[in-house]
Amino acid sequence: MSTSLEMSSVDLSGLCDRVLAIYVPEGHILRLEENNNFEIRSDDIWVITYPKCGTTWTQEIVWLVCNNADTETANTVELDTRFPFFEYPFTNQKRVIRKMPSPRLIKTHLALPVLPHQIREKKPKIIYTMRNPKDTCVSMYHFVKLLTPINYKGNFEEFTKEFFMGVTVGHGSFWDHHRDYWRLKNEMNILILKYEDLITDLAKEVKRIAAFLEKELTEEQVQTIVEHCTFKTMKDNSASNQSHIQNMGLMRAGMGNFMRKGKIGDWKNYFTPELNDMVDQLNKKYLEPEGLTFDYE
Ligand code: A3P
Repeated sequence: MSTSLEMSSVDLSGLCDRVLAIYVPEGHILRLEENNNFEIRSDDIWVITYPKCGTTWTQEIVWLVCNNADTETANTVELDTRFPFFEYPFTNQKRVIRKMPSPRLIKTHLALPVLPHQIREKKPKIIYTMRNPKDTCVSMYHFVKLLTPINYKGNFEEFTKEFFMGVTVGHGSFWDHHRDYWRLKNEMNILILKYEDLITDLAKEVKRIAAFLEKELTEEQVQTIVEHCTFKTMKDNSASNQSHIQNMGLMRAGMGNFMRKGKIGDWKNYFTPELNDMVDQLNKKYLEPEGLTFDYE
């Protein structure tokens, strides 16, 4: 069994352009046709997020729920192999996904308007994880500074203003992404999770996920999943801590890890009153009228 993506075949030329392509909305326009026409199966399971909202965490939980809490495999086979990234820019994951047996587990950050067309008719199960905008922004700031192809040089204030205008980071605006999926919350095939709820009561959320996916778990299996998916355990697990990004030379060595803090409220260490005010205003404008609120503590 393969334990990691086939990095040897990765062509690193033009890396910068391709990485930026997933961080600017135009990148999606370039890929639209391929994404649009991708063949969906009704028993697919999609984890969809805006980046830095708890994608990796959700993937690991969902994979374990679907695989009888098989922590042995989860400790040895890389998460991106078990649960491929639809629009991954370095290797053609769509080719891999096409050949996967059902039910396929697929990760994407694509905004709702650019999802493959067949998702609307085939209605696979979708799990969408949200996170409060302030902690998402802090997490993303560290990530873009760490990523060598992006090598973001601005300070936190500059980044925050760009981020909330949807400039620095692709997948469109944080606000549109969250709002569009939130509006689907009453659809049968969508489960909305919040990063903050995963932090507050992981066992409860594991059970919600299992019920949504129609998987029966024993209390012992729920507990196994909770223990396997704590921040510390996942950070120490090379199959799920995204260390392959580092191994590919895409993250600056010694400057931090993908698994950074894993907390609610780190934003308080970064936001000035002015930035805080700006995000509160945007929140009021875009998400609060939709009835979407977050915990910040
Ligand atoms: P921080 O940078 O705030 O620590 P994504 O997978 O969408 O890129 O999200 C990454 C964020 O999720 C990072 O947030 C990371 O630390 C956090 N994360 C990943 N696994 C986690 C876990 N088991 N518990 C809590 N947070 C986790």
